[in-house]
Amino acid sequence: MSIRHFLTLMDLEREELDVLVSRAIELKAENKQGLLYEPLRNKSLAMIFDKSSTRTRISFEVAMTQFGGNALFLSPGSTQLGRGEPIEDTARVMSRMVDAVVIRTSSHQMVEKFAEHAGISVINGLTDSFHPCQLLADIQTYRELRGDIRDRRAAWVGDGNNMCHSWMNAAHQFGFHLSVATPAGYGPNPALLREREGVVDAGSDAAAAVEGADIVVTDTWASMGQEDEEKERQRAFAGFRVDSSLMALANRDAVFMHCLPAYRGREVTAEVLEGPQSVVWEQAENRLHAQKALLEFLLR
Ligand code: CP
Ligand code: NVA
Repeated sequence: MSIRHFLTLMDLEREELDVLVSRAIELKAENKQGLLYEPLRNKSLAMIFDKSSTRTRISFEVAMTQFGGNALFLSPGSTQLGRGEPIEDTARVMSRMVDAVVIRTSSHQMVEKFAEHAGISVINGLTDSFHPCQLLADIQTYRELRGDIRDRRAAWVGDGNNMCHSWMNAAHQFGFHLSVATPAGYGPNPALLREREGVVDAGSDAAAAVEGADIVVTDTWASMGQEDEEKERQRAFAGFRVDSSLMALANRDAVFMHCLPAYRGREVTAEVLEGPQSVVWEQAENRLHAQKALLEFLLR
């Protein structure tokens, strides 16, 4: 069988994604019961992190430990990649030693290039374009708390960034509608928007997007690598904060989602983030269970 990668949600079939989310829920229950399950004994996962991370790094590392395998954390300066060893050489060498690799870096093309030359599964741990692992946990969270996400309505409020793009792919793959509201000039990738026509609409009216939504989701206004734009972004995004009055436009049992880290008082008020509709801590926990399901799918 050919090697499977997970660079975007489009790398898996819809049915495979569905099974994976169900499996994540199952693995979570077994883990809570204290059942020992070590399907990846003697397997190694390399993790190349070119950007900061709390959740992604910890969840992959703990997932490998719980599965009986091990994870190697590789920071940019600690490998020869940092000194200019070509990506294709690194990919080929690592493929002869480890069983899979997670990469977090700015350039999506870099991850694609790595995958092209790798003889092992490559997992996107976040690029400037996509963050698919987060969506596995998010869909799992919705399914656990509210049931199937199919035919539901989600509203993305804020930046048309990597997380927004992955929500757009999720709408296509899991069969729900997504309304995107961003300030003008900060919308999602136009080519991706065209591809998602029919399941995603995009504009600049946050209230209209949230009206009647089952999920309201946002993310930081300044992603990693955009620190210099922080001030100008705060001005541009001022009307796109998720607060209680915006949440009041959504359905009564709507959930608030955020991949974290969150910046209280900027993209979301403390009241919403800590409020009864917020499911952000469940999302964070589910990173572990969803990625265990992903690793099992890719490595067994
Ligand atoms: N949500 C998420 O990916 O968090 P980290 O940046 O902490 O990994
Ligand atoms: N959009 C954010 C997500 C962090 C998990 C970033 O890229 O920094």
